[in-house]
Amino acid sequence: DISRTAERTGSRVYLIGGIVRDLFLERPNDDIDIVVEGQGIDFAGHLQADYGGTVKMHETFGTATWIHPSGLYIDVTSARLEYYDRPASLPDVELSTLSEDLYRRDFTINSMALCLNPEVFGDLVDPFNGQADLRSKTIKVLHNLSFIDDPTRILRAVRFETRFDFLMDKQTESLALNSMARMKDLSAHRIVEEMKRLFKDENPPGTIKRLFKLRFWQQFGVDDGNAEQSYIHAGQLKTFYEIHKPPAGRKARWFNYFAIPFFTSRKMHLMHQFSLTKRNHKFLQDLRSLSDIQGVEQVRQPGAFHRFLKHYDDEAIIFMIAKENMENEDVITTYLKRRVDMPVFLTGEDLIQEGMKPGPHFRGILLDLEVSVLNGEINSTDEALDWLH
Ligand code: CTP
Repeated sequence: DISRTAERTGSRVYLIGGIVRDLFLERPNDDIDIVVEGQGIDFAGHLQADYGGTVKMHETFGTATWIHPSGLYIDVTSARLEYYDRPASLPDVELSTLSEDLYRRDFTINSMALCLNPEVFGDLVDPFNGQADLRSKTIKVLHNLSFIDDPTRILRAVRFETRFDFLMDKQTESLALNSMARMKDLSAHRIVEEMKRLFKDENPPGTIKRLFKLRFWQQFGVDDGNAEQSYIHAGQLKTFYEIHKPPAGRKARWFNYFAIPFFTSRKMHLMHQFSLTKRNHKFLQDLRSLSDIQGVEQVRQPGAFHRFLKHYDDEAIIFMIAKENMENEDVITTYLKRRVDMPVFLTGEDLIQEGMKPGPHFRGILLDLEVSVLNGEINSTDEALDWLH
């Protein structure tokens, strides 16, 4: 579709960035970015006129998104404005604007473009030899100031390393190490955005380890000595979810992994700056008070956990268990599964109905009842009433 519209409107159109990389790697990618030279974001309008769908303009950025009728998002960027007024030796201008766009990017493997115009369909523009780096599985910056321009690129490099099983070349790695101190200049929000993407990717324990090597955690007050223990904890956390399939979800949440080095080094207070949501606050709070709980290792019945853990969220409980690699993991998982839909056989109202005088002791009675229910000892209101009397 894009190709035909390019021909009809006489614009040069390129597929650019991550999507080109992923095409060569034969990996799925729904983020389609195209760069249009000549008439810029009007092109999104032409696509809509030709094939339907909807267009969203992002005026301030000079970009637009065409939402294809199938629901696919295609981001359209125009060649930069200052080039519009230049005299029309078109091919030169085109190439230079495209190069300009490519030169602003992070790594050679992300700085390739594929032409979509029918007569030259599939022609590759690859000024930094990203093809060769794809083949040799190398992450390489385009110039020495890349990480100074944008320190989040170091985190992107690590993400691509783990995701594709690539490595930074020596030069890039040493630039990363040298620029790491700049990470502290970023807003917590930007770091959090990158952490989300990093720890949603494939190998969180490996990522933690790599970030120790590159001295990321060290910028935020975590010492080298915590690397091994953090790696082990992350591995156990990942395995716990895979083996026990708790109700909390299929995978540990990114924030759990992010917390591990701070937790290991007993510096959770340093992590608060990154806790930007209620859920994350609760998680940190849970961890803090769970650290003080003693005796959970000895528990052998699901209900007994309830006495310790009633008020804690699943993810915090699992985080703590994974740290210890405890023998009673199975029992805990049973507890977490049962408590999700624990039936309520009696309430405070029922106790009053039964002639009991209301008071704080109700709480204890109802907790005892819950414990028995979770142990599978009480399975109906009648049994609960029997138990009460
Ligand atoms: N980019 C960059 N510097 C950044 C962020 C992005 O140069 N700090 C460039 C890269 O060339 C990248 C493109 O912008 O290919 C699009 O960025 P993004 O969508 O974040 O990354 P992808 O490479 O598509 O990675 P992912 O598959 O994880 O989305």
